[in-house]
Amino acid sequence: MTTTIPVLDERRLRHVFGAFPSGVAAVAALVDGAPVGIAASSFTSVSLDPPLVSLCIARSSTTWPLLRAVPRLGVSILSAAQERAGRQLAARRADRFAELSWRPTADGAVLLDGASGWLETSIEQQVRAGDHDIVVLRVRDLDADHDINPLVFHASQFRRLEP
Ligand SMILES: Cc1cc2nc3c(=O)[nH]c(=O)nc-3n(C[C@H](O)[C@H](O)[C@H](O)COP(=O)(O)O)c2cc1C
Repeated sequence: MTTTIPVLDERRLRHVFGAFPSGVAAVAALVDGAPVGIAASSFTSVSLDPPLVSLCIARSSTTWPLLRAVPRLGVSILSAAQERAGRQLAARRADRFAELSWRPTADGAVLLDGASGWLETSIEQQVRAGDHDIVVLRVRDLDADHDINPLVFHASQFRRLEP
């Protein structure tokens, strides 16, 4: 049963959740030989030993059922130059990978070229949490370049860090 308290309506929750800035990750993999992915601002580091990260994925996602079935998921931390990729990977009716430069790993994860960082992961655990699932991912491989500025998502807008 869901109890709706007026001050906690969805608009207000989005408003306040959006005050917390995050990066934007592209979560992607090959499905039947073609790249499939979504943009996710919920990417968070979780644990060093074992190496774990997490995502929160809406239970309404139509793409997640495809991604959760593959052995490896790529997580690319989008750079400030990849705002277009951030929009495209969330678009409802579009070829989400059109004109994006990406590469598959040997195990079928999909990574975007030019990202600030990337991780190759496998699903460790999924926990139902309201209208989302908390997805815990085990890190299999990773790298990052701190000289490539990240894309920032804040107050429902893409932003950049000041130099
Ligand atoms: C900047 C940004 C961040 C997003 N973060 C998440 C997220 O963390 N979790 C999520 O489930 N959807 C997130 N979305 C929405 C998904 O990218 C996608 O639009 C949604 O899953 C609907 O598409 P689908 O039905 O193909 O899954 C985000 C969208 C944008 C633009």
